[in-house]
Amino acid sequence: MKNTVNISVFKFDPLKDTEAKFKSYSMPSHGLRTVMDALTYIRDHIDGTLAFRSSCGQGRCGSCAVHFNGRYGLACEMLLSSEKNTVRPLAHLPVIKDLVVDMEAFWEKYEAVKPYLVRSSNDAVLSIEKRLKMNKLVDCILCGACFSACQMTGKNPDFHGPAAYVVLNRFLLDNRDSLREQRLALVKGENGVFRCHQMFNCNEACPKQIYPSENILEIIKIID
Ligand code: FES
Repeated sequence: MKNTVNISVFKFDPLKDTEAKFKSYSMPSHGLRTVMDALTYIRDHIDGTLAFRSSCGQGRCGSCAVHFNGRYGLACEMLLSSEKNTVRPLAHLPVIKDLVVDMEAFWEKYEAVKPYLVRSSNDAVLSIEKRLKMNKLVDCILCGACFSACQMTGKNPDFHGPAAYVVLNRFLLDNRDSLREQRLALVKGENGVFRCHQMFNCNEACPKQIYPSENILEIIKIID
């Protein structure tokens, strides 16, 4: 029907269900633009059990990342299609309920690269040139879309993943940081940046166009 939007949503409650399934919902299309609009409509008007994360609704907080119609991205930014709409949770992370995943593995990798500045001296000043190079990198909202789009994070639990390497590269660019050698040593090992197959799935998934694979290449060039 023309004025109707249909959407198929991944449903799974590990406390009750033995297997995951997709559930189809149909609703009036008026006023619904994004995937988040549809999920909110379902929760408020059709199925109050549907679980998903959201906060800002403006592509800022990174909490709403999902897989929609074949690609990863933010539910609050991806637009509904007039034909087929299929939503599933982020991959490589355990499902807590429906579209809500346990992000612990993602945060563990992120913390492992020490995502903070350790100054070499209190007098060190960040140069304008270095800060300009960081412009895109500091836009990362840690949504996890790149982590789930990456084939290597799924295969190798010791691979840090694209988001962790973006923040690592941000600190390699920072002339005030004293952990440069330590950071490089951490990622040049067997399960580090050289495991990246440069498939560019992370670039496609990133809602902020940060191009994680280019950051990985930059780190590789420093190590080589
Ligand atoms: Fe904040 Fe989508 S709800 S990024």
